[in-house]
Amino acid sequence: MMRAVVVTPWLVVLAAAGLLAGARLDSFPGIPSLHKQGATTQLLVEGKPFVILGGELHNSSASSLAYMEPIWPKMVALNLNTVLAVVSWELLEPEEGRFDFALVDGLLDGARKHNLRLVLLWFGSWKNGVSSYIPGWVKRDASRFPRMQPRPGENAEVLTPLSDTNCRADALAFVALMRHLKEVDGTRHTVVMVQVQNEVGLLGASRDHSPAAEAAGAKAAPDELIRYVSDHKDNLIPEFKEYWEAAGYKTAGTWTEVFGEGADEAFMAWYMARYLGKIAAAGKAEYPLPMFANAWLVQSEGQKAGQYPSGGPVSKVLDIWRAAAPSIDFLAPDIYLPDFKAVCASYTRSGNPLFIPESSPGPERAFYALGQHEALGFCPFAIDSLPADHPLKGGYQLLAELMPVIIEHQGAGRMLGLLQYKEDSEQAELAGYRLEVSYRKEANAKGYGLAIATGQDEFLVAGSGVSIHFSARRPGPRHTRILSIDEGRFKDGKWIPGRRMNGDEDAGGWRLQLPGGPPSIQRIKLYRHD
Ligand code: DGJ
Repeated sequence: MMRAVVVTPWLVVLAAAGLLAGARLDSFPGIPSLHKQGATTQLLVEGKPFVILGGELHNSSASSLAYMEPIWPKMVALNLNTVLAVVSWELLEPEEGRFDFALVDGLLDGARKHNLRLVLLWFGSWKNGVSSYIPGWVKRDASRFPRMQPRPGENAEVLTPLSDTNCRADALAFVALMRHLKEVDGTRHTVVMVQVQNEVGLLGASRDHSPAAEAAGAKAAPDELIRYVSDHKDNLIPEFKEYWEAAGYKTAGTWTEVFGEGADEAFMAWYMARYLGKIAAAGKAEYPLPMFANAWLVQSEGQKAGQYPSGGPVSKVLDIWRAAAPSIDFLAPDIYLPDFKAVCASYTRSGNPLFIPESSPGPERAFYALGQHEALGFCPFAIDSLPADHPLKGGYQLLAELMPVIIEHQGAGRMLGLLQYKEDSEQAELAGYRLEVSYRKEANAKGYGLAIATGQDEFLVAGSGVSIHFSARRPGPRHTRILSIDEGRFKDGKWIPGRRMNGDEDAGGWRLQLPGGPPSIQRIKLYRHD
């Protein structure tokens, strides 16, 4: 169904220029929104905290409703609560000014029938550093819609972020999408967040050399950015601050004078973020869902901007993105790298809430992200290719059971994530206790879990292949001992105890032990004596 939509151009121009006040949240009761709960950020849906146990579809799956038909039940069987699906500019606006919402409506319908929520991924100007999802009428017209030039005079098949025409055209389509969502989903809230573009940045060069970029690059670094870094000097991301420091903390000058070796990446990040920020602001003026940008990460130490997309929201330029695009609520890493813990830590600086829109699969990453960082959600990529018996299924089921307890303890510093990486053991502190954690030593199965301090001397531990010895760190009697350990599950939020885990099962009163294989839950109570 093709439907012509009248969009008032001046409204869009104003919105795209960031000149419209964002729509007020209180005009949209129950709309998904971000909310600060203690030290953490929660996603509220219908006013209640909602943690995404999700998965991202292959890029092309959501372009065909028929193709999606058998996928929906598969998502339910894997125990997902949310699916991440692409909405592309080329299919939304195949002819300039004519919008086709049939696919969006079909996705909403499919998700609702299966009791799933959606995060929509707006593949507009860029996807993975290229512009392959722009409509044909934009692709064919490189003079109206200018391109980036990795080398002067050489157009790449990538729109430049230094063009208002490009930004306005993309924003026009995005505004139409958000307006449509407001009309058809404004009271249902099937769509809970929107990703703006996908893994943006320039590949093959550290910065754009198109005529507009050369002109902007010859100017002084923007006052707005310099003001931001000066105001946040004590809390800047160190890898970025280093560049500014090495260049002498200048507060005026060209990009190179102010940011030295980091100038090209800073320049690209500023203009990329401005572009995405304007699009997000224009969309939010219609319908203010939470919006984020995702990152193609630096793949190895020493990689230079351009080897990974320059200007994309890698963690070191998080401050620039914050300064340039306040309408982007957070920046999200796509984590295929093995050191999951390090990437999560790098994306929780400067108050950035953690959300993982893409990852290699495996329940262990979900447990860690939710336990350690109280993540908004976790979503393996290519979810539609996972086998029906993938361990994610059992992992998500157990996390769903535990969810009321997880949510109750968010923001209070009472949770911990556990994930075996290079070491077979580690130490952690939680709620006045030291936890000596050991992981099982099996090549292909890593230990993982999460621990929640549910009471003064009581913990719930969920996961697989982990054992923990607890010792109290607070002043008091010398020895910490196990009072009891129960295996159990949650049903409708209620704890149903199973076996009493004593003897061999707790190493003779010494440690809680979660066996390997499918994850399980144990509740431990401790006491102390001299
Ligand atoms: C990262 C991209 O963001 C996804 O859209 C997809 O192309 C994956 N890479 C493929 O591994």
